[in-house]
Amino acid sequence: MGPFSNIQVFACVCTFLLWNNIQPSVENEFIANYSSRLLTNVPKTIPVRTQVLDLSHNRISGLSTSEFISLSDLQVLNLSHNLITELDFGVFFFNQDLEHLDLSHNNILKVYCLTLAYLRHLDLSFNKFSALGSMKVLTLEHVRNKVYYFNQELLYRQFSEMPLASLTIFDASMPHMLCPNRTSSFQYLNFSHNALTDELFQNCGTLTDLKFLILQRNKFESLPKVSFMTSGMKSLKFLDVSSNLLSYDAPAERCRWAESLSELDLSSNQLTDAVFECLPVNVQKLDLQNNQITSVPRRTAELKSLRELNLASNRLADLPGCGGFPSLEFLNVEMNLILTPLVDFFESCPRVRELQGGHNPFKCSCELQAFVRLERRSGGKLFGWPGAYVCEYPEELRGRRLEDFHLAELACNTTLLLVTWTQTKRRAWHDQPEEQEGVLQFHAFISYSERDAPWVKNELMPNLERGEGCVQLCQHERNFIPGKSIVENIITCIEKSYRSIFVLSPNFVQSEWCHYELYFAHHKLFSETSNSLILILLEPIPPYVIPARYHKLKALMAKRTYLEWPKEKSKQALFWANLRAAINLAGGQRC
Ligand SMILES: *[C@@H]1O[C@H](CO)[C@@H](O)[C@H](O)[C@H]1NC(C)=O
Ligand SMILES: *[C@@H]1O[C@H](CO)[C@@H](O)[C@H](O)[C@H]1NC(C)=O
Ligand SMILES: *[C@@H]1O[C@H](CO)[C@@H](O)[C@H](O)[C@H]1NC(C)=O
Ligand SMILES: *[C@@H]1O[C@H](CO)[C@@H](O)[C@H](O)[C@H]1NC(C)=O
Ligand SMILES: *[C@@H]1O[C@H](CO)[C@@H](O)[C@H](O)[C@H]1NC(C)=O
Repeated sequence: MGPFSNIQVFACVCTFLLWNNIQPSVENEFIANYSSRLLTNVPKTIPVRTQVLDLSHNRISGLSTSEFISLSDLQVLNLSHNLITELDFGVFFFNQDLEHLDLSHNNILKVYCLTLAYLRHLDLSFNKFSALGSMKVLTLEHVRNKVYYFNQELLYRQFSEMPLASLTIFDASMPHMLCPNRTSSFQYLNFSHNALTDELFQNCGTLTDLKFLILQRNKFESLPKVSFMTSGMKSLKFLDVSSNLLSYDAPAERCRWAESLSELDLSSNQLTDAVFECLPVNVQKLDLQNNQITSVPRRTAELKSLRELNLASNRLADLPGCGGFPSLEFLNVEMNLILTPLVDFFESCPRVRELQGGHNPFKCSCELQAFVRLERRSGGKLFGWPGAYVCEYPEELRGRRLEDFHLAELACNTTLLLVTWTQTKRRAWHDQPEEQEGVLQFHAFISYSERDAPWVKNELMPNLERGEGCVQLCQHERNFIPGKSIVENIITCIEKSYRSIFVLSPNFVQSEWCHYELYFAHHKLFSETSNSLILILLEPIPPYVIPARYHKLKALMAKRTYLEWPKEKSKQALFWANLRAAINLAGGQRC
């Protein structure tokens, strides 16, 4: 006798109860008996008023809705001793009076179960999943239980004692499962899409053969509790607790994972940076996708065996280093908040073979150019290059592929810029020493972000260049000298002007160009005349907008008094007067 010989599954496999020998009370004329006819299919000529249908001891291997759709009075169906392998309860959707269903002695491996509130007695005993030898697998999917008065303990006990290697109970709203009484034969458990909580398998020492545990889409909340659950599972290799409600915010709480655990899926939970304090020491593949991680703490416990780390869809501001992960080979940081990735990444992570870093809001600046060069050098280590790597900032470059983004070397290399500047200057002195006196042709050079060009062109320039005591401005685009590079033109502009005016706004701060212009004006300021620098604050700049490395700009902002552009029309006349005073045209130079 197999373990299920007397067990009836009640209300859609949701409870096992002992068969009470309840005999259907039906009239003889409504009985259709096709037992032992060597049938391979359900006959098409069954009288439509049949209430009791005996199809036992045949060779039927599959069922379909069309075979039962017309039997609207069917109450008892005996399909025992056939060759059915898969069963979708949907085939009985139209048999709303069906109460007794005998499916014992078949080859059923997989059960798809729809809502069956009407089915009172179901026998699934002696199927493949309970046979000795051969396959030992049972899958129940989409179980809907509408009858709540059964003994749940008995149900869980029956499932947990099943002598199977593999059990799947999928999408069944199952809130609990018991720890097997004796050492269990389970190697694979898949309870995805249920209502299981942190209480599952706590202090459970009998799941010692379990290798794969899949608990996706349940209601787990505590990462330490999940770790304790695994601690007795000595063979556990793979754990999937993705799409739960897991969090771990108190690093004081200890975690204890199965040492055998090598693959862990914690994706789509509510985990933060603290998760790195609660990970299995021997993990090789770790999925932390779609959590709330902002950085990988530097002083994290070492995960010596970690080869694959997925941190996509988090809130990382930079690439993590490999300090804690000496064996890391694959890293995914797609869809984070990385503006300018660390360029020394491949140096600190020598074993990384693939970095999946696309779909970040890249800021196309000089520093990013180093990253682009890195791609050229690293030889195809960037997964998704070039399509997934696109500029997000500054706005004028939004949408441009990093592959197509270039800045002149001069623009990004301060040393080179200084050398060029000095050379230009020396050449000027050498070529036209007598013209040095007349070298200053302009009153002021203006620097601004392209985004603020409308204000400069419509307000500043007309106001300063027209009227009494007009100011001559050097604007590098307008006073462009062909044959010279942009940088040389800017340098020339600065050199030929008494003053340098900077139009400050958050846009300005975003622009690398402006930064270098300012840098040079600043040098000139200290090397030659003082007070040659004028700052106009067009829009307030919140301090956090200024990148930390803009020390000079920060210092200037802190030290200098700047002229603030007033939004109120009535105050603007005073602003122009102050600006003119700063440019110091009291001498009344001519246009
Ligand atoms: C159908 O006939 C078989 C004998 O051929 C009998 O054993 C079985 O009980 C009958 N089924 C019903 C429901 O009367
Ligand atoms: C189905 O048929 C088998 C074999 O004839 C019999 O043992 C069993 O009791 C029947 N079940 C029902 C519900 O009639
Ligand atoms: C399992 O354990 C429970 C509680 O200890 C006990 O009542 C039950 O009889 C046991 N079942 C089996 C099949 O050993
Ligand atoms: C878990 O079971 C479901 C339903 O059978 C299946 O679709 C899914 O692939 C299984 N998951 C794993 C990781 O085996
Ligand atoms: C900057 O330019 C100088 C002079 O050509 C060169 O020696 C230096 O290596 C460059 N620096 C970088 C970071 O490219």
